[in-house]
Amino acid sequence: MLRVKLQNRVEMGPFVNEAYKYLRTNIMFCGIGVKALCVTSCVPNEGKSDVSFNLAVSLAESGKKVVFIDADLRKSDIIRRYNPDLAVFGLSHYLSAQNKIEDILYETNMDNLDIVFSGPVPPNPSELLGSDSFSDLVEIFRKVYDYIIVDTPPVGSVIDSAVVAQKCDGVILVIESDAISYKLAQKVVKQIEKSGSRILGAVLNKYEHDKRLYGYKYISYGKYMD
Ligand SMILES: Nc1ncnc2c1ncn2[C@@H]1O[C@H](COP(=O)(O)OP(=O)(O)O)[C@@H](O)[C@H]1O
Ligand SMILES: [Mg+2]
Repeated sequence: MLRVKLQNRVEMGPFVNEAYKYLRTNIMFCGIGVKALCVTSCVPNEGKSDVSFNLAVSLAESGKKVVFIDADLRKSDIIRRYNPDLAVFGLSHYLSAQNKIEDILYETNMDNLDIVFSGPVPPNPSELLGSDSFSDLVEIFRKVYDYIIVDTPPVGSVIDSAVVAQKCDGVILVIESDAISYKLAQKVVKQIEKSGSRILGAVLNKYEHDKRLYGYKYISYGKYMD
Protein backbone atom coordinates (compact mmCIF):
# COMPACT_ATOMS: atom_id res chain seq x y z
CA MET A 1 0.00 0.00 0.00
CA LEU A 2 1.13 3.56 -0.74
CA ARG A 3 2.27 5.63 2.23
CA VAL A 4 2.07 9.35 2.81
CA LYS A 5 3.25 11.55 5.65
CA LEU A 6 0.76 14.23 6.66
CA GLN A 7 2.29 17.32 8.22
CA ASN A 8 1.31 20.56 9.99
CA ARG A 9 -1.36 18.95 12.13
CA VAL A 10 -1.98 21.20 15.13
CA GLU A 11 -2.29 19.39 18.44
CA MET A 12 -5.73 19.87 19.94
CA GLY A 13 -6.04 21.13 23.49
CA PRO A 14 -7.66 19.03 26.22
CA PHE A 15 -11.11 20.64 25.87
CA VAL A 16 -11.20 20.13 22.13
CA ASN A 17 -9.96 16.56 22.56
CA GLU A 18 -12.80 15.93 24.98
CA ALA A 19 -15.34 17.33 22.51
CA TYR A 20 -14.06 14.93 19.84
CA LYS A 21 -14.20 11.99 22.24
CA TYR A 22 -17.80 12.92 22.97
CA LEU A 23 -18.60 13.10 19.25
CA ARG A 24 -16.81 9.82 18.60
CA THR A 25 -18.71 8.07 21.39
CA ASN A 26 -22.03 9.32 20.07
CA ILE A 27 -21.18 7.96 16.65
CA MET A 28 -20.15 4.60 18.06
CA PHE A 29 -23.51 4.37 19.83
CA CYS A 30 -25.28 4.77 16.47
CA GLY A 31 -24.56 1.05 15.99
CA ILE A 32 -22.64 -1.15 13.58
CA GLY A 33 -24.94 -0.18 10.69
CA VAL A 34 -23.47 3.32 10.78
CA LYS A 35 -20.08 3.11 9.08
CA ALA A 36 -20.03 5.60 6.24
CA LEU A 37 -20.53 9.17 7.42
CA CYS A 38 -20.99 12.22 5.24
CA VAL A 39 -19.90 15.49 6.85
CA THR A 40 -21.47 18.64 5.44
CA SER A 41 -22.70 22.12 6.37
CA CYS A 42 -25.01 24.90 5.20
CA VAL A 43 -22.38 27.26 3.77
CA PRO A 44 -18.58 27.23 3.17
CA ASN A 45 -16.04 27.75 5.98
CA GLU A 46 -18.13 26.40 8.83
CA GLY A 47 -15.41 23.84 9.56
CA LYS A 48 -16.42 20.65 7.72
CA SER A 49 -12.88 19.74 6.75
CA ASP A 50 -11.56 20.46 10.24
CA VAL A 51 -14.30 18.52 11.99
CA SER A 52 -14.34 15.58 9.57
CA PHE A 53 -10.57 15.11 9.61
CA ASN A 54 -10.27 15.47 13.37
CA LEU A 55 -13.18 13.08 13.84
CA ALA A 56 -11.41 10.56 11.59
CA VAL A 57 -8.23 10.95 13.68
CA SER A 58 -10.17 10.60 16.93
CA LEU A 59 -11.89 7.39 15.77
CA ALA A 60 -8.53 6.04 14.56
CA GLU A 61 -6.93 6.87 17.92
CA SER A 62 -9.60 4.80 19.64
CA GLY A 63 -8.40 1.78 17.67
CA LYS A 64 -10.96 1.82 14.85
CA LYS A 65 -9.74 1.36 11.31
CA VAL A 66 -10.70 4.54 9.48
CA VAL A 67 -10.50 5.93 5.95
CA PHE A 68 -10.96 9.66 5.34
CA ILE A 69 -12.25 10.55 1.87
CA ASP A 70 -11.91 14.11 0.66
CA ALA A 71 -14.95 14.37 -1.61
CA ASP A 72 -14.93 18.16 -1.82
CA LEU A 73 -13.81 17.91 -5.42
CA ARG A 74 -14.41 21.60 -6.09
CA LYS A 75 -12.61 23.36 -3.27
CA SER A 76 -10.49 20.94 -1.35
CA ASP A 77 -8.13 22.31 1.24
CA ILE A 78 -6.74 19.07 2.64
CA ILE A 79 -3.56 18.87 0.56
CA ARG A 80 -2.62 22.49 1.25
CA ARG A 81 -3.40 22.06 4.92
CA TYR A 82 -1.63 18.80 5.67
CA ASN A 83 1.08 19.16 3.06
CA PRO A 84 1.71 15.48 2.13
CA ASP A 85 5.37 14.65 1.56
CA LEU A 86 4.77 13.43 -1.99
CA ALA A 87 2.61 14.19 -5.03
CA VAL A 88 -0.56 12.15 -4.73
CA PHE A 89 -3.34 10.83 -6.88
CA GLY A 90 -6.89 11.38 -5.72
CA LEU A 91 -10.58 10.62 -5.93
CA SER A 92 -11.15 12.49 -9.20
CA HIS A 93 -8.43 10.35 -10.85
CA TYR A 94 -10.24 7.20 -9.72
CA LEU A 95 -13.78 8.41 -10.53
CA SER A 96 -12.72 9.43 -14.03
CA ALA A 97 -11.21 5.95 -14.52
CA GLN A 98 -7.64 7.23 -14.82
CA ASN A 99 -6.46 5.32 -11.75
CA LYS A 100 -7.38 2.28 -9.71
CA ILE A 101 -8.25 2.19 -6.00
CA GLU A 102 -4.75 1.01 -5.07
CA ASP A 103 -3.31 4.18 -6.70
CA ILE A 104 -5.43 6.59 -4.65
CA LEU A 105 -5.60 4.95 -1.23
CA TYR A 106 -2.78 6.05 1.11
CA GLU A 107 -1.75 4.81 4.49
CA THR A 108 -0.88 7.83 6.68
CA ASN A 109 1.66 8.36 9.44
CA MET A 110 -1.25 8.20 11.91
CA ASP A 111 -2.13 4.75 13.24
CA ASN A 112 -5.29 3.19 11.76
CA LEU A 113 -5.90 6.16 9.45
CA ASP A 114 -5.87 5.89 5.67
CA ILE A 115 -6.77 8.69 3.28
CA VAL A 116 -8.10 9.37 -0.20
CA PHE A 117 -7.26 12.88 -1.41
CA SER A 118 -9.60 14.78 -3.73
CA GLY A 119 -7.32 15.04 -6.79
CA PRO A 120 -7.52 17.78 -9.42
CA VAL A 121 -10.84 19.63 -9.89
CA PRO A 122 -12.83 17.78 -12.55
CA PRO A 123 -15.32 19.50 -14.89
CA ASN A 124 -18.25 17.38 -13.60
CA PRO A 125 -17.94 16.71 -9.82
CA SER A 126 -21.63 15.91 -9.13
CA GLU A 127 -21.75 13.45 -12.01
CA LEU A 128 -18.57 11.70 -10.85
CA LEU A 129 -19.76 11.44 -7.24
CA GLY A 130 -23.12 10.09 -8.44
CA SER A 131 -21.45 7.39 -10.51
CA ASP A 132 -21.31 3.67 -9.74
CA SER A 133 -17.55 4.05 -9.24
CA PHE A 134 -18.11 6.09 -6.10
CA SER A 135 -20.70 3.61 -4.78
CA ASP A 136 -18.26 0.77 -5.52
CA LEU A 137 -15.50 2.56 -3.61
CA VAL A 138 -17.70 2.99 -0.53
CA GLU A 139 -18.84 -0.63 -0.72
CA ILE A 140 -15.27 -1.92 -0.96
CA PHE A 141 -14.20 0.27 1.96
CA ARG A 142 -17.12 -1.02 4.04
CA LYS A 143 -15.50 -4.44 4.01
CA VAL A 144 -12.13 -3.14 5.18
CA TYR A 145 -12.80 -0.22 7.53
CA ASP A 146 -14.79 0.37 10.68
CA TYR A 147 -15.51 3.95 9.61
CA ILE A 148 -15.52 5.87 6.32
CA ILE A 149 -15.55 9.63 6.91
CA VAL A 150 -16.42 11.68 3.84
CA ASP A 151 -15.76 15.43 3.68
CA THR A 152 -18.05 17.18 1.17
CA PRO A 153 -18.97 20.66 -0.09
CA PRO A 154 -21.78 22.60 1.67
CA VAL A 155 -25.40 21.67 0.97
CA GLY A 156 -26.39 25.21 0.05
CA SER A 157 -24.11 25.55 -2.97
CA VAL A 158 -24.12 22.32 -4.99
CA ILE A 159 -25.78 18.91 -4.95
CA ASP A 160 -22.53 16.98 -4.36
CA SER A 161 -23.12 16.43 -0.64
CA ALA A 162 -26.68 15.15 -1.23
CA VAL A 163 -25.30 12.72 -3.80
CA VAL A 164 -22.59 11.52 -1.40
CA ALA A 165 -25.04 11.36 1.53
CA GLN A 166 -27.23 8.90 -0.38
CA LYS A 167 -24.31 6.48 -0.49
CA CYS A 168 -23.52 6.88 3.20
CA ASP A 169 -25.32 5.66 6.31
CA GLY A 170 -25.79 9.09 7.81
CA VAL A 171 -24.98 12.77 7.73
CA ILE A 172 -23.25 14.95 10.31
CA LEU A 173 -24.16 18.58 9.90
CA VAL A 174 -21.52 21.09 11.00
CA ILE A 175 -23.07 24.38 12.09
CA GLU A 176 -20.95 27.45 12.74
CA SER A 177 -21.99 29.08 15.98
CA ASP A 178 -23.61 32.53 15.59
CA ALA A 179 -23.26 32.35 11.81
CA ILE A 180 -26.21 30.27 10.65
CA SER A 181 -29.82 31.24 11.18
CA TYR A 182 -32.27 28.70 12.55
CA LYS A 183 -34.27 29.13 9.33
CA LEU A 184 -31.33 28.25 7.08
CA ALA A 185 -30.36 25.26 9.23
CA GLN A 186 -33.95 23.98 9.06
CA LYS A 187 -34.00 24.43 5.30
CA VAL A 188 -30.77 22.47 4.91
CA VAL A 189 -32.00 19.70 7.24
CA LYS A 190 -35.15 19.38 5.12
CA GLN A 191 -33.07 19.34 1.93
CA ILE A 192 -30.91 16.48 3.27
CA GLU A 193 -33.91 14.50 4.47
CA LYS A 194 -35.70 15.02 1.16
CA SER A 195 -32.80 13.34 -0.61
CA GLY A 196 -33.52 10.26 1.52
CA SER A 197 -30.55 10.58 3.89
CA ARG A 198 -30.54 10.31 7.65
CA ILE A 199 -29.12 13.10 9.77
CA LEU A 200 -27.30 11.59 12.74
CA GLY A 201 -26.66 14.87 14.47
CA ALA A 202 -25.03 18.26 14.33
CA VAL A 203 -21.73 19.66 15.49
CA LEU A 204 -21.87 23.22 16.77
CA ASN A 205 -18.50 24.56 15.69
CA LYS A 206 -16.51 27.69 16.56
CA TYR A 207 -18.46 28.01 19.75
CA GLU A 208 -16.90 30.40 22.27
CA HIS A 209 -16.79 29.21 25.83
CA ASP A 210 -17.11 31.48 28.80
CA LYS A 211 -13.81 33.37 28.82
CA ARG A 212 -13.93 34.04 32.57
CA LEU A 213 -13.85 30.34 33.37
CA TYR A 214 -10.65 29.49 31.56
CA GLY A 215 -8.97 32.87 31.47
CA TYR A 216 -8.39 32.80 27.72
CA LYS A 217 -10.37 32.72 24.56
CA TYR A 218 -11.27 29.21 23.77
CA ILE A 219 -12.96 28.10 20.58
CA SER A 220 -14.60 24.76 21.00
CA TYR A 221 -15.27 22.17 18.39
CA GLY A 222 -18.67 22.06 19.93
CA LYS A 223 -21.13 19.54 21.03
CA TYR A 224 -22.72 16.70 19.20
CA MET A 225 -26.45 16.71 19.47
CA ASP A 226 -28.93 13.99 18.73
N1 LIG B 1 -13.51 25.30 15.92
C1 LIG B 1 -12.77 26.12 15.20
N2 LIG B 1 -12.19 27.16 15.79
C2 LIG B 1 -11.46 28.05 15.07
N3 LIG B 1 -11.27 27.99 13.74
C3 LIG B 1 -11.85 26.97 13.09
C4 LIG B 1 -12.61 25.97 13.78
N4 LIG B 1 -13.06 25.09 12.85
C5 LIG B 1 -12.59 25.51 11.65
N5 LIG B 1 -11.87 26.62 11.79
C6 LIG B 1 -11.21 27.41 10.72
O1 LIG B 1 -12.21 27.89 9.85
C7 LIG B 1 -11.77 27.86 8.51
C8 LIG B 1 -12.72 27.01 7.69
O2 LIG B 1 -12.63 25.67 8.13
P1 LIG B 1 -12.79 24.48 7.13
O3 LIG B 1 -12.69 23.22 7.90
O4 LIG B 1 -11.85 24.62 5.96
O5 LIG B 1 -14.28 24.75 6.62
P2 LIG B 1 -15.10 24.08 5.44
O6 LIG B 1 -14.44 22.77 5.12
O7 LIG B 1 -16.48 23.92 6.04
O8 LIG B 1 -15.12 25.05 4.31
C9 LIG B 1 -10.36 27.30 8.53
O9 LIG B 1 -9.44 28.36 8.51
C10 LIG B 1 -10.30 26.55 9.85
O10 LIG B 1 -8.99 26.48 10.37
MG1 LIG C 1 -13.66 22.00 3.38
